Amino acid sequence: MGWEQRPVRWSDPAFRRLFDGLGGHPHTERAEEEAACLRRLLRLEPGARVLDAGCGYGRHAHAIGRSGIRVIAIDAAPEYARESSVADVSVAIADLVALPFSSSTFDAVLALRFAADLLAPGPIARVLGEFARVVRTGGHVLISTPNTRAIAEPRTWRRDGETFVLNEKAFDAGRSIYREVEYHIDPRAGVVREWIQETPRYTIEEWCALAGKAGLSIASAYGGLDARAPEDSAELVIVATRTP
Ligand SMILES: C[S@@+](CC[C@H](N)C(=O)[O-])C[C@H]1O[C@@H](n2cnc3c(N)ncnc32)[C@H](O)[C@@H]1O
Repeated sequence: MGWEQRPVRWSDPAFRRLFDGLGGHPHTERAEEEAACLRRLLRLEPGARVLDAGCGYGRHAHAIGRSGIRVIAIDAAPEYARESSVADVSVAIADLVALPFSSSTFDAVLALRFAADLLAPGPIARVLGEFARVVRTGGHVLISTPNTRAIAEPRTWRRDGETFVLNEKAFDAGRSIYREVEYHIDPRAGVVREWIQETPRYTIEEWCALAGKAGLSIASAYGGLDARAPEDSAELVIVATRTP
């Protein structure tokens, strides 16, 4: 007995269909509430111009756009570039490392559940540089990303048919790397397979340094869009302003 092991990317259409088909998954259910938090945190008024960068299927873009805020939602994945049914929201395919907008176009840029692929040192510097370019002076850039301080459930296991799956997560502060290891144990076949994923993750201090190099200044760091303290939260929300 064997099984094929291959890395599945977020952009893989088959995976996307599976994910989109989930319907009322928790992220979708939270979108309206999170949009209200975003409006409050960034003091977004009707008429404000907002870029939802890496919008996925646009759950925040639509929720924000329904309150009269003008949203441009972009994503690299073509299957997400469906026309929006909300009048103030337009959707386009674009790459975060080279934004097709003039300087100072937006009052705010949102990057919610920021793509892990873009956290590597080269891409993150380019993306933050682009965010700083397209937001107006005094405007806000908000990024949500996993928090290095608290890893929810560092060790879990589940059963998948006859296979036991042990999952371990850890943050290596020296290397700024989050490491996830999964052991798939098939006791009948006596086989253990190992799956390892390493992604960069940054502390608040590292985000401050990265933002500063791009011409942004971190104004606040929260543990969620509800503005809770970051200490024990699994999420980190960075709010930066564009310096003159
Ligand atoms: C984790 S999803 C978050 C989606 C959405 N913001 C949300 O909160 O539901 C990250 C998104 O970033 C997009 N993405 C990844 N790399 C990108 C790039 N270079 N340019 C534009 N979008 C990108 C992916 O296609 C994906 O939709």
